[in-house]
Amino acid sequence: MADKVKDEMSDKRILLIIGGGIAAYKSLLLIRVLAKRGIQTRAILTRAGTEFVTPLSVGALSGDKVYTDLFSLSDEAEMGHIELSRSADLVVVVPATADLMAKAANGLANDLASTTLLATDKRVLYAPAMNVRMWENAATVRNVETLRADGALFVGPEEGDMACGEFGYGRMAEPETIADAIESALAGVTDLDAMKPKSLAGKHVLITAGPTREPIDPVRYLSNHSSGKQGYALALACADLGAKVSLVSGPVDLTPPHGVEIINVETAQDMLKACESALPCDVFISVAAVADWRPRNTGIQKIKKDGKAVPPLELEETPDILKTLSSHKNRPTLVIGFAAETNDIIPHAQAKLAKKGCDWIVANDVSGDVMGGDENTMILVQTDNVDPWPKLSKREAAERLAAKIAAHFSKL
Ligand code: CTP
Repeated sequence: MADKVKDEMSDKRILLIIGGGIAAYKSLLLIRVLAKRGIQTRAILTRAGTEFVTPLSVGALSGDKVYTDLFSLSDEAEMGHIELSRSADLVVVVPATADLMAKAANGLANDLASTTLLATDKRVLYAPAMNVRMWENAATVRNVETLRADGALFVGPEEGDMACGEFGYGRMAEPETIADAIESALAGVTDLDAMKPKSLAGKHVLITAGPTREPIDPVRYLSNHSSGKQGYALALACADLGAKVSLVSGPVDLTPPHGVEIINVETAQDMLKACESALPCDVFISVAAVADWRPRNTGIQKIKKDGKAVPPLELEETPDILKTLSSHKNRPTLVIGFAAETNDIIPHAQAKLAKKGCDWIVANDVSGDVMGGDENTMILVQTDNVDPWPKLSKREAAERLAAKIAAHFSKL
């Protein structure tokens, strides 16, 4: 089998553009992995890239000349940048730095790498690698969207510890994963996401996320510290498995995942209304930290200080969205609640399961820095089972829950 794949790929050649980032060392491993799979590599090393790997090591592994300088007369005489950009079946940028992607998205051409990206008529595959804040910056998000719309393919980045000491998205995909993506692209696949298993295809998943805001008057409100990260990660994980996802979100500072329908709301009442409008659905996951109480009377005008009495704040309970959907005439097949607890987590979660009438409760210990943090320690509580999970990133926890949901439907 491996030999068959090697034969099919043996006449394929990629042009590898090595950007300047700490992940550049992985490009050397990638060249070796590709050689084993019968794919030849010709490399361009950016000026910044030469700070991390040398032309000598790249050339020794690729067995070819390494191109580094746009204005080298000898290089241009041997092979001009236009020809270089077209002599391969696929152009692969590893690591794709924020700078290289920004140039490509905007058509800038001021060095060999960017000129090649502008001149090529071949598909381009980017393996981004950068600090999480740079990856999440609005400019990078915009540039990636532009490149995708222009037909570029992406592999990674992945979540994890980064060389800069931070944790999050931005770590470059591993060489084997990039090589798999290269093989798919060389085989003509134009949507790498479509290669992932779609075990939730045909299912409609409704998710609530973030806090709600309950107005006191036009300028003040009651709310909580929920960041929305866990709900957004779940929306992405379910969409990745092929589900149609509706995400009803309270006010958060997050970009909605690609391909997910987003419905923005402020209050618990609006969140309930949006959820009921999104029915019918197969799965409802109530991740939102819905405010439990709201002011009974909301001032139409800003309440003024008179320097004497503090205004009374009379509260009433907000509608319980999870409970309402659990007993709804259009009840989703699977209803999952979250339980934020600080003590006696399992007994409290079991009591909540019965009280709310849902099928599963995901209990999480919020006594630490879970709210706003990037990690979660969760316990999946079902009527007949309690399954404690290890501490996971919110992304990993979301993928695990999405896989559990898919497994549940496969058994029905
Ligand atoms: N929930 C809801 N509507 C509310 C309150 C909570 O849909 N008005 C949902 C949450 O999204 C979560 C579950 O109910 O899925 C449990 O929320 P939690 O805050 O842990 O529990 P409460 O019901 O608020 O009870 P308590 O605060 O007493 O623990």
